[in-house]
Amino acid sequence: MDLILAAVSALLPFSAVPPGKAAAIHLFSPDCTGGCPRAASLFRALERRLAHDPDILLLSVSATHPARARHWVDSWRSTNLWHAASASTAPHPTDAHDPQVCLVNRDGRLASCLTAPTVDDLAAALDRLAAPPAAGLLRSCSQCHPAGLGPLTERRFRRQGPATAYRQESFCAALRHGKDPAGTPLDPRMPRYELSDRECRSLWENLILPAAPSTPLR
Ligand code: HEC
Repeated sequence: MDLILAAVSALLPFSAVPPGKAAAIHLFSPDCTGGCPRAASLFRALERRLAHDPDILLLSVSATHPARARHWVDSWRSTNLWHAASASTAPHPTDAHDPQVCLVNRDGRLASCLTAPTVDDLAAALDRLAAPPAAGLLRSCSQCHPAGLGPLTERRFRRQGPATAYRQESFCAALRHGKDPAGTPLDPRMPRYELSDRECRSLWENLILPAAPSTPLR
């Protein structure tokens, strides 16, 4: 743990990680035949899980020649989520090492390092780190909804329509297209928001759901 923590800290702020993306980073050497292929298998499963997630980057860092590092990663990867980087200061992991992966948040700061993580651990941690902060957006909501949004997840009669409850999808649709779950247009004073799926999910899961049913918005 200390080895990769020290190495990755020394490499950060990591210019290979564009701002706004969360990243998982591991160190490798093309010559290491134990821990490094295990780390590569982990990343391979992870990139399949993440598909083409535009907010996440996987990075394999090595002290070897850039072309050799690229070749090693190319022999494993199947999406353009996963990149190779060379760093003269990176230590060589040895065969005895369990895969060690460090996670970087979307501001380019080191969040944590994990030894022998599972794909589930990494996918969940990256998902959290990639979520943009929704608190600022929510403050703007409270200007018009000072008493909160009411029990969105409870079935209620809304706008002369049938009783409906909001779920994540209908909540995001209301913000994007101004329609409630029954498809009835909202009052035109309610703004339309351009939100990515992750932004909307983050708003719903972290701020709206815990606030339901009646806690006012902060
Ligand atoms: C400029 C004022 C304004 C702002 C800012 C605003 N809203 Fe609204 N919102 C409204 C109005 C007006 C309505 C419509 C009420 C109606 O039709 O009964 C509404 C309705 C809604 C509804 C539908 C509620 C229901 O019971 O069907 C949701 C959900 C909602 N707003 C969420 C948000 C969120 C989340 C934000 C911040 C991202 C936000 N609003 C920001 C004015 C605003």
